[in-house]
Amino acid sequence: MKFFADTAEIDAIKDLAATGLLDGVTTNPSLIAKSGRDFMEVTKEICAIVDGPVSAEVVALDHATMMKEAEVLRKIADNVCIKVPLTVDGLKTCKALTGEGTMVNVTLCFSANQALLAAKAGATFISPFVGRHDDNGFDGMDLIEDIRLIYDNYDFETEILVASVRHVTHVLQAAKIGADVMTAPPAVIHALFKHVLTDKGIEGFLADWAKTGQSIL
Ligand code: E4P
Repeated sequence: MKFFADTAEIDAIKDLAATGLLDGVTTNPSLIAKSGRDFMEVTKEICAIVDGPVSAEVVALDHATMMKEAEVLRKIADNVCIKVPLTVDGLKTCKALTGEGTMVNVTLCFSANQALLAAKAGATFISPFVGRHDDNGFDGMDLIEDIRLIYDNYDFETEILVASVRHVTHVLQAAKIGADVMTAPPAVIHALFKHVLTDKGIEGFLADWAKTGQSIL
């Protein structure tokens, strides 16, 4: 499963990129606003740090303006992935852009039927929002299971990008279902490394090592 960082914070992205485990980045207008940075500038910086896809979202609602915005965004770098909402105009834009060889991430997906439409429109990624789904009394992981089943039934190449990830259990469940990608806030990715028994084990080994009076270097 690929790991994307769901953030526009440069230091956090550099930190995760240094682990060698980061496959891409997703941003959205809220994350850009939270960073307090200029959209074009920060996107360019992120694209230079990460080799994989960096999602940059259009804000227009109509197809013609989405195409104009995508034209500006895709000039930022070769690894920009244009993010469009799951609407009729968004999917028209998706079809046109992927037809030209541009990566597209279809966002704000909340049903398996929507995911089916995105795949038919040639989306590179479909982003079902599991956390927001859970928040509203649904089971986000049921949605991922349904999309996996449908995409496998028809051999769709669209990658399932689990978004709105809130905790490590979301990551585990998504991996068990066979989602292609998950995007999570840096804190959730860091939490994946942690286990109380790992910490306890290190503590015990170091205490015993100290008793030997030896050093490796
Ligand atoms: C990523 O592509 C999405 O925009 C993001 O995961 C949404 O997360 P949120 O529901 O925590 O805002």
